[in-house]
Amino acid sequence: MSHAADVLDRITERAAQSRPAAAAVGLLAAGNLLDALGQRRAARSAVGAGLVTAVPTAVSGWSDWSDTEGHERRIGALHSSANTVGLLLHAASLARRPRRGGAGLALLGSAVLGVGGWLGGHLAYALGVGVDTTAFQAGPTEWTDAGASADVSDAPAQVEVGGVPLVLVRHDGRLHALADRCTHRGGPLSDGRLVDGCLECPWHLSRFDVTDGAVHRGPATRPQPVYEVREVAGRIEVRRQEGRALRINPVGV
Ligand code: FES
Repeated sequence: MSHAADVLDRITERAAQSRPAAAAVGLLAAGNLLDALGQRRAARSAVGAGLVTAVPTAVSGWSDWSDTEGHERRIGALHSSANTVGLLLHAASLARRPRRGGAGLALLGSAVLGVGGWLGGHLAYALGVGVDTTAFQAGPTEWTDAGASADVSDAPAQVEVGGVPLVLVRHDGRLHALADRCTHRGGPLSDGRLVDGCLECPWHLSRFDVTDGAVHRGPATRPQPVYEVREVAGRIEVRRQEGRALRINPVGV
């Protein structure tokens, strides 16, 4: 991967993690409210700030969309188009101020953005785009056998424990266990490779630190779940870290 592509990945990752969408929508809506209150200068500032804040949102949205296909891709294109039109209307409102019509254009822009937001919600909640694919995985909370110690080396190996696929790997003499399903789109990390202390997903090349699952390279934005692991009499045992034990498993593995 080129340096420029790597930098773009990092920008995308940070943009997705900083949740700028809520800030952009909030600022643009605040502009509408200030217009209604007759605070034209403040409204102009809010709309301007909202437009700037929307830039990283668009970048992360583009990253999510580029990995979709079929129905998801078409809905994503509609979502993107509505948001683009909405932002252009807000930009036009900014250019028109302080003349008459600026507030109306901003209001129309927010209405179109509302349609885009509804489509975005459909993408996330109905189609699962951008959702951590391990969110509902359970796994054992008690120490559970995961195979023979001799079977695990620095080559990632998949095991299934309590119905959940895990990946085991050794690095610098230490054994690590992570969820095998990539948090981005569910790629099997056990088919990837170990690079600089990270597991690299074979599908879109995200990298996760084997020690804590932290994202070192996108497009993934969510860390990979890490399991506690120990070796007892030549066998490997794992259990889920309590920090992940926030949910039951309503949809199977
Ligand atoms: S599935 Fe996309 S990076 Fe793993």
